[in-house]
Amino acid sequence: MSLRIIVVLAVLTGVTGSPGVTIRPEADSADTTAHPNSIPETVEATEIFGQQQQEVPVEEEAEEAVMEAEEAVMATGELNPNHYPARRAAKVVQHYLNTHYGSPFRLFGLHNVQSGNAEDVADSGRKYQLEISVQEIISNTTENCSAEVLFLSGDQQRSPRVQVSCEELLKSNTKAQEEALFQKYKMNQSLLSAQNLPDSYGHIEPDNKPLWHLGIVASSSVMLKESTENTLFNMAQVANITQLATENEQLKFDCHILLHEMVSQEIIHWKLLFTWSPPEGVNVLQMEQLPHCHHCEKPPNTN
Ligand SMILES: *[C@@H]1O[C@H](CO)[C@@H](O)[C@H](O)[C@H]1NC(C)=O
Ligand SMILES: *[C@@H]1O[C@H](CO)[C@@H](O)[C@H](O)[C@H]1NC(C)=O
Ligand SMILES: *[C@@H]1O[C@H](CO)[C@@H](O)[C@H](O)[C@H]1NC(C)=O
Ligand SMILES: *[C@@H]1O[C@H](CO)[C@@H](O)[C@H](O)[C@H]1NC(C)=O
Repeated sequence: MSLRIIVVLAVLTGVTGSPGVTIRPEADSADTTAHPNSIPETVEATEIFGQQQQEVPVEEEAEEAVMEAEEAVMATGELNPNHYPARRAAKVVQHYLNTHYGSPFRLFGLHNVQSGNAEDVADSGRKYQLEISVQEIISNTTENCSAEVLFLSGDQQRSPRVQVSCEELLKSNTKAQEEALFQKYKMNQSLLSAQNLPDSYGHIEPDNKPLWHLGIVASSSVMLKESTENTLFNMAQVANITQLATENEQLKFDCHILLHEMVSQEIIHWKLLFTWSPPEGVNVLQMEQLPHCHHCEKPPNTN
């Protein structure tokens, strides 16, 4: 239903040419590309869920430039590290790192790809060997990692297999912050909830940033599972997130997320149920893709 609202808004703004909803030109400037998931601090919050361009705070321009360079066939052998096939595989490593090591205070982004190599593996799929540098976005540190990503052929429901070793993974020690946040959330009488992280101006209230980060980490599980050689996912928005009551030592959240698939240019809705605690990290218990929008021609998992 909300999709319909988005579409209507997009159409309305197109028709009226409302100057209030033009795209932020600064959002893709050099200083945000250094921080792929950071949110530009801009004007006041608004309830309006804007045009699709505005849902996506990160990396758009860079990814699109890279996509133009895409080759028609799957590249094999040494890859151009700036081109799309190498970047696509490298983004899977980002999702893997977030899934396994992410927290409200630790998010990983792909900083750059130094080198890449792709080869067919008999009977199983295609393997990418990558040298990449990964950024811990919140602490603003980078580290070099070697990674192997195997996209399995035949069975499109299985997530790619990832192995990664970094010079020094987990540079920042975030345990104390995580514990403090956990206690704060756990002790609060009322259950937390938030909508539209970020809003259509790219703004997130400081109090809601940990929820946005939890949403990013949970989304990485979906993006990791859904990634193929033909996809490039970005997190677009936490449409809403609601804390659920729990009896055990886990916090539980229900959330709706919007992912942007760069290849098909589709916005894909997922509903997730996940838990978080400092020792256990973020664990997605349920993920459900929500019905597709009308104007999108093909389902997201075609290949
Ligand atoms: C992040 O680190 C880089 C390299 O050390 C530095 O150039 C940049 O200004 C830092 N950004 C922020 C927001 O601290
Ligand atoms: C990562 O590797 C590059 C190229 O080999 C090197 O210049 C850079 O200093 C390394 N970065 C770190 C954080 O070790
Ligand atoms: C509890 O949560 C509400 C809603 O988010 C917030 O306004 C309030 O400050 C929180 N209380 C504490 C003690 O953290
Ligand atoms: C959360 O957002 C989704 C998508 O916009 C919407 O369908 C759903 O009703 C919302 N749920 C709540 C509890 O606000």
